[in-house]
Amino acid sequence: MANADVPQLDELRAQVLEGLRQERKWLPCRLLYDERGSELFERITALEEYYPTRTEHAIMTVAAPAMGRIIDSGCVLIEYGSGSSTKTCALLDHLPAPAAYLPIDVSRAQLEAAAATVRARYPTLEVAPLCADYNRPVSLPPAAARGPRVAYFPGSTVGNFNPPEAVRFLTGIARTVGPGGCLVIGVDLPKDRALLEAAYDDRQGVTAAFNLNVLRHLNRILEGDFDLESFAHRSCYDSARGRIEMHLVSGREQVVTVAGERFRFGVGETILTEVSYKFTLDGFALLAGISGFDVAAVWTDRRRMFSVQLLRARPGSANGVAPVDVHALSAAAG
Ligand code: AVI
Repeated sequence: MANADVPQLDELRAQVLEGLRQERKWLPCRLLYDERGSELFERITALEEYYPTRTEHAIMTVAAPAMGRIIDSGCVLIEYGSGSSTKTCALLDHLPAPAAYLPIDVSRAQLEAAAATVRARYPTLEVAPLCADYNRPVSLPPAAARGPRVAYFPGSTVGNFNPPEAVRFLTGIARTVGPGGCLVIGVDLPKDRALLEAAYDDRQGVTAAFNLNVLRHLNRILEGDFDLESFAHRSCYDSARGRIEMHLVSGREQVVTVAGERFRFGVGETILTEVSYKFTLDGFALLAGISGFDVAAVWTDRRRMFSVQLLRARPGSANGVAPVDVHALSAAAG
């Protein structure tokens, strides 16, 4: 299995300290995903309130055969943050004679298990897993040169970036797939506040445990002394910014030490731990356009809760200034 740098602890420490020094405290959302956090996230995806996973899956059953008719034969499928690769088969089943599958993930254990599953299901497909943090530049293995490239980024994880970070990330993918290359991406859509807030604050408290686990993770890796009982989970939809925010709210006045530095919290003071943007179709087309992609096709469910989009990298450099033809959007399915 190919190797790449995993995020360095020094870099994470610097980000954590920077975030906690701000008047409005924040923490990098990658802290959500230690082993326990990843397990909790898997549980979230099965919750009744958490509509994205099952809705995206339902859309893929309609969209994947159509994508298979648009995407060139013999492609190399590169999946960013592949996890257990559970969503990937829906796509692989319909791609015309794919040459190779390159899953990228930081979790070596998950990658190995997923690669084994995919190899068993598609014995003639070359599977070349890459253990890496896709937020950092990665060098692809030789299998990436075996055909036209198609990137896959499901789950609406693009919403967990701030817009400038999203542009940087998508621009990197446009360069990776090259002119004419494709990106299949899951994109969550704006909807009723109550539905959104329930999706990020479920009745069983799984999302609360997922959020609070950030503090347990920090205590473990950066010698923190957060008292988990003194913080509470809160999620709220900021309709002006079109994003869910997850916060940890301090229940009392307290001083917490992290990586040798002391931080004071007032009652009700919060730490922003994650943003999850919900995009209008036009808004996402603009973001894609700035990043060097045209929207080739869009599929949504009947209630327009979620979308799966097929983007094509524009010829020429992805330098962020070309105008976008939002009429290229074609809504189907649903
Ligand atoms: C991974 N990502 C797309 C999830 C989301 O919906 O933004 C993370 C998540 N946070 C709370 N619940 C799920």
